[in-house]
Amino acid sequence: APRPSQDLYELMEQVGRYYQAQLRHHADRQKVIDYLKGRGLSGEVVKKFRIGFAPDAWDGVLSQHRQSKDEQDKLVETGVLIQNDQGRRYDRFRDRLMFPIRDRRGRVIGFGGRVLGDGTPKYLNSPETPIFHKGQELYGLYELKQAIRDPQQVVVVEGYMDVVALAQYGIDYAVASLGTSTTAEQMQLLQRTASKVVCCYDGDRAGREAAWRAMETALPQLRPGDQLAFVFLPDGEDPDSFVRQQGKDAFEAELDKATPLHQFLFDTLAQSHRVEDGSLAKRALTLIETVKDSVLQETLLENLAYRLRLNSAAELKRKFGVSSRPS
Ligand code: CTP
Ligand code: MN
Ligand code: MN
Ligand code: MN
Ligand code: MN
Repeated sequence: APRPSQDLYELMEQVGRYYQAQLRHHADRQKVIDYLKGRGLSGEVVKKFRIGFAPDAWDGVLSQHRQSKDEQDKLVETGVLIQNDQGRRYDRFRDRLMFPIRDRRGRVIGFGGRVLGDGTPKYLNSPETPIFHKGQELYGLYELKQAIRDPQQVVVVEGYMDVVALAQYGIDYAVASLGTSTTAEQMQLLQRTASKVVCCYDGDRAGREAAWRAMETALPQLRPGDQLAFVFLPDGEDPDSFVRQQGKDAFEAELDKATPLHQFLFDTLAQSHRVEDGSLAKRALTLIETVKDSVLQETLLENLAYRLRLNSAAELKRKFGVSSRPS
């Protein structure tokens, strides 16, 4: 028997090709090409990421599947078509630059569509579907694996454009988390992809908060040898704008001097907690206790002890009353 989701993958592949073809042939293509040029994207990288164009029509994709009710049903399932209360179908993505999201095997499972200017929402994404679970995917992971078999490090960024711009500048080991917060599943996937994971979110308040949440998410599942570090871009910059202004070497220099996890943890807590009354230690211990790996937990405790000018992790535990975990 045919696997039902197999049809969905095939249809998504066709839809991806349709959007790509519109970029080459549609009457409105010039404005899209101008937009791409304005953002400095090369034809090569547009091709690599299979970027396309959804025309300004209610029946773009729909017109390709007029004959088959069954295909239309499946396109509704994939979220490419929307069905209203009266049962009418129409295209979800209209007049947008289209980024296909591919799974680890390269299959198109969803799309992100960017408005060609200042409209809202800036990005429209595929909904959750039987083949697309946003929190389990990383945009660009397939392309990364095609480019590098065994990456030394992987950079996590916020946006589609960040991944694509970095790749254009030769940094082909970046992926995006498809939303502001990186989920535990995505973090696990990242940790399996490379031993060093560098989070490089936007240089704004939201980006800094996303970094903190990513750290909290990563802590419980960290294992010895895992490296996690953070790059904080200047205010108002994101990896896309940064690499265009400063170039590849400057971006890689930022990666090289990324803030290690323990430093980020303590420096951030130090901004809002006092050392003298023990509140910094207590808050840090609460976080460190979430680390399941005991070797790594001990390392972080030693580090905290050092920062608090105590002699050892043992003294730290004595002073702040942490029971050591049963082994
Ligand atoms: N995002 C989204 N929906 C929005 C805004 C953002 O899904 N309305 C997601 C997109 O994946 C986007 C990422 O969050 O790429 C980061 O958002 P933002 O920094 O605002 O966008 P950029 O990626 O910088 O996009 P651009 O450079 O095109 O403005
Ligand atoms: Mn599923
Ligand atoms: Mn942002
Ligand atoms: Mn951004
Ligand atoms: Mn941007």
